[in-house]
Amino acid sequence: MLNFDLCTPTRVCFGRGRENEAGALIAAQGARRPLVCYGGGSALRSGLIDRVRASIEAAGLECVLLGGVQANPTAEFASYTARFAAEKGCDFLLAVGGGSVIDNVKMAAYCVRTGWEPWDVTTHKVTPAERLGVGVILTIAATGSETSNSAVLTNEGLKRGFSSDLNRPDFAIMNPELTFTLPPYQTACGVVDILMHTMERYMCTNEDNALVDELSEGLLRTVIAAGRRAMAQPDDYEARAALMYAGSLSHNGLTGAGRECGLWAHKLEHEMSGLRPEIAHGAGLAVVWPAYLEFFAARGAGEARLLRYAQRIWGIAPDFEHPERSVRAGIEATRAYFAELGMPKTLRELGLREEDIAVMSGKCTDNGAKILPAILPLGRVETEEIFRMCL
Ligand code: NZQ
Ligand code: ZN
Repeated sequence: MLNFDLCTPTRVCFGRGRENEAGALIAAQGARRPLVCYGGGSALRSGLIDRVRASIEAAGLECVLLGGVQANPTAEFASYTARFAAEKGCDFLLAVGGGSVIDNVKMAAYCVRTGWEPWDVTTHKVTPAERLGVGVILTIAATGSETSNSAVLTNEGLKRGFSSDLNRPDFAIMNPELTFTLPPYQTACGVVDILMHTMERYMCTNEDNALVDELSEGLLRTVIAAGRRAMAQPDDYEARAALMYAGSLSHNGLTGAGRECGLWAHKLEHEMSGLRPEIAHGAGLAVVWPAYLEFFAARGAGEARLLRYAQRIWGIAPDFEHPERSVRAGIEATRAYFAELGMPKTLRELGLREEDIAVMSGKCTDNGAKILPAILPLGRVETEEIFRMCL
C-alpha cells in the first residue's frame, strides 16, 4: 500500500425522506438565502423542488430557484449561475440533481464572491482558497460527484475536470427513492459510471494492497447485481440504495487508496461527450472500456491484474495454460453486461464518425504533446487506435 491522503468531509445524510431536512442542514451552515439549482425539469416534475422549497422556508430561510443546467454542463451556465447567485444575494448553493447540476454548482461556488469565471478555475488561471457553501440532493446514482473532489465542465467543445478537496460538498442528501423515476437508460449509464470509477483504480500497477482489492471487488460485484435488480424493478429500494452509496464510495478516493492507478479510460470518454454533449457519460464509457482493455491485453500489459479482474469480478475460471483466454473472457463478460443493460457498443451508435477520431485523440493528448499515464503510455497514436477499435 503506497502512502496516501484521503479527505472526505462531506456529511452524508442517507435514506428515505431525508430531503425534508435540507432547510435545517442549510441553516446549520449559517446561510439565510440559498440558491436551489436544478437541471432540465425532472426534479420539478417529480415534486421534489416543491418539497425542498417547503423545507427551506420551514427553516425560516429564503429560497431562490434556478433551473436549466444541461447534462454535460457548460462553463457558460456555471458563470451565469454565479452571477445570478450574486445578484440575488444568495449565500449558499444547493444542487438538486445528478453530476451535471452538482458540477455546475461546485464551479459556480468559487465565483459568486470573487466574480471569477468558472473556466479560469478549471484551467488553473486562478486558484481558489475558499468557496460559497455547497449542498447536494442527489437524484441519480452515477458520478459520485456528491462526495468527490472533482467537477467537470465543457467549454467550446473541450471537457475538462478540476480537482481539489475544496470541491467536496458540505453535505449530500441521498434518498434512494428519488432515483425511482430515472429512465432505464440513465439508470444503466449510472451503473456503468459507478463500475468504471472502481475498475479504473483496480487496474493499478502496485498489486500488494489486499484490503483495497477486497473492498473494490465487493463493491463491483454488488453494483453488478444491484444494477440488474434496478433495471428489472425500478422501485427496488435496496438495489437503488446499494447503487447510491456505491456511487459515492467508488469516486470519493476510497478504492484508489494506496494505489498507483494504471488506467483512465475517462480521459477518452470526456473527449467523446465533450465533442457531442448529447452523449451520456456512462454510455460513452461503456463503449470505450472493453476496447481499452483489449488494447492492453493484446500487448500482454497488466495481465496479472486483468486475470484477477476476470476471476474475481466476472467469475471466469482461470485457464492456467492459456491465461490470455481468461483475460479475453473477462473482457467479453464486461461487454455482455453492458449490452444487457442496454448500453451502446460502438462510437457510431453514439453518433460519432471516423473523422472525429483524430479530433478526439488530438484533444486528449494536446495534439500529441501529452502522454497519458497508463500501464503503457498512451499518446496520440495509441488513443487513436483505441478509438478506432470502438468504431
Ligand atoms: O436534467 P434533468 O431533467 O434533471 O434530467 C436528468 C438528465 O437528463 C436525468 N435525471 C437525473 N435524475 C433524475 C433524472 N430523470 C428522472 N428522474 C431522476 N431522479 O438524468 C439525466 C442525466 O443527468 P446528469 O446529471 O447529466 O447525469 P450524471 O450524474 O451521470 O452526470 C454526468 C456529468 O458528470 C460528469 C460527467 O462527465 C457529466 O458531465 N462527471 C462528474 C464527475 C465528478 N464531478 O466527480 C465524475 C464523473 O466521472 C463524470 O465525469
Ligand atoms: Zn465517470
